[in-house]
Amino acid sequence: MALAPVQTARQLPRWSELRDVVQFKKPWLSRLERANSVRDLRDLARRTTPRAVFDYVDGAAEEEITAARNVAAYRRVTFLSETLRSVADPDPSVPLLGRRIAMPLMFAPTGYTRMMHHHGEAAVAEVAQHVGVPYALSTVGSTSIEDVRAASPDGDLWFQLYLTPDPKVNEDLLSRAEAAGYTTILLTVDTTVSGMRLRDVVNGLTIPPTLTARTVLNMSRFPRWWFNKLTTGGMTFASLAGVPGKPSPAEVASMMFDPGLDLQALDRLRVRWRGNLVVKGVTTPASAREALERGADGVVVSNHGGRQLDRSPATLDVLPAIRAELGPAATVLIDGGVLHGQDILAARALGADAVMIGRAYLYGLMAGGRDGVLRTVELLAGEYQRSMQLLGVRRSEDLSGRHVAFHPSLSDLGSHDGQYPLSGGFLPDQVPARTRGAGDAGAAGELP
Ligand SMILES: Cc1cc2nc3c(=O)[nH]c(=O)nc-3n(C[C@H](O)[C@H](O)[C@H](O)COP(=O)(O)O)c2cc1C
Repeated sequence: MALAPVQTARQLPRWSELRDVVQFKKPWLSRLERANSVRDLRDLARRTTPRAVFDYVDGAAEEEITAARNVAAYRRVTFLSETLRSVADPDPSVPLLGRRIAMPLMFAPTGYTRMMHHHGEAAVAEVAQHVGVPYALSTVGSTSIEDVRAASPDGDLWFQLYLTPDPKVNEDLLSRAEAAGYTTILLTVDTTVSGMRLRDVVNGLTIPPTLTARTVLNMSRFPRWWFNKLTTGGMTFASLAGVPGKPSPAEVASMMFDPGLDLQALDRLRVRWRGNLVVKGVTTPASAREALERGADGVVVSNHGGRQLDRSPATLDVLPAIRAELGPAATVLIDGGVLHGQDILAARALGADAVMIGRAYLYGLMAGGRDGVLRTVELLAGEYQRSMQLLGVRRSEDLSGRHVAFHPSLSDLGSHDGQYPLSGGFLPDQVPARTRGAGDAGAAGELP
């Protein structure tokens, strides 16, 4: 049986009714405010920064397998929420090495930060203090130990140390970090030799730079970046300006990679440095245990963002085993692939005290200087807190393994001589043959 045609009662259009329910996007929102995720900031960074500089940040070692694994591991996490738990008045803060930080996040050390944007390390340190989390300055930073302290007079500053073969250089760095009130030395141990980052070799971003015509042409499309670069002082390894003998930048860079770095070096550092000492760059339970047995106060589960030994495991895949090995009292941080607040939530639930972010804040920095770094933290903090509440957790400290389902794609991590069987791997893009050739030639001059 057919229905009668639908009768629709109509009126003349009344725009006032539309106005009540539709808010138009404010046209004056800045590009940063319009970025809704760190991935948006990355897109913006790509559009505002010369390709060679963007690639220096975005790229990783060899076939970039580990860098991709780091990110992919977080996507295998499933959250298991608890319902009917009050999550009013959420508290994202956590304790870390005797202090309380605003959320389980801190800024990883990155070299040459003023190359990404002229605001550089000082801006990142300023944001870190503003939001209440630590900032780690790199040995090869482009702002000195003292200038970063000036930018962050009350912040919790850590100093990332590349132990060089020259004890005088090491002592100079340590005593200056001590005098400037840095609380923690972050000893990086995954740089015995330089990783091979092929994008940098192709772009000619080595020390000294061997820029190709293509790179120079591309750079000319970013006059604002150039203007800022040329009017804000040259790029130096600012904390290493006093290295005796006036070595060339290439010689200084090569000092940062010490193939002789061993456990005795850690012992000597432990005797010398009375503050917190954290070892950055462990990826196995055995190495993590060894670091703590030698007196380190904590470890960072890190593969240097996939920039050193490619085909290392994703850091999230090894985190649960390392936490199990070290027990609940040890300080365990993680970095690599953290691009979303939910990644921080997952890392915390799987045993990390806090995460370090590297590229996430550098994308923000490239996209908009200091305000871009702040935008990165705003986005991550919003995602983190919202997801924590939806998970039924009021305090960061209440997050635990029962809130996630996650199956590390590795087994037999306990045995050092066994091989790590990897599942869920993927075939990387084919690296062009000419890239490989150039890589061999450029090995000596890699940026740390
Ligand atoms: C551009 C860049 C420079 C870096 N420089 C350093 C450095 O000087 N010292 C260091 O210990 N780690 C350095 N790292 C590694 C970071 O501290 C951190 O381990 C890594 O970025 C974490 O991975 P993510 O970028 O995926 O967050 C650098 C990373 C990047 C992206």
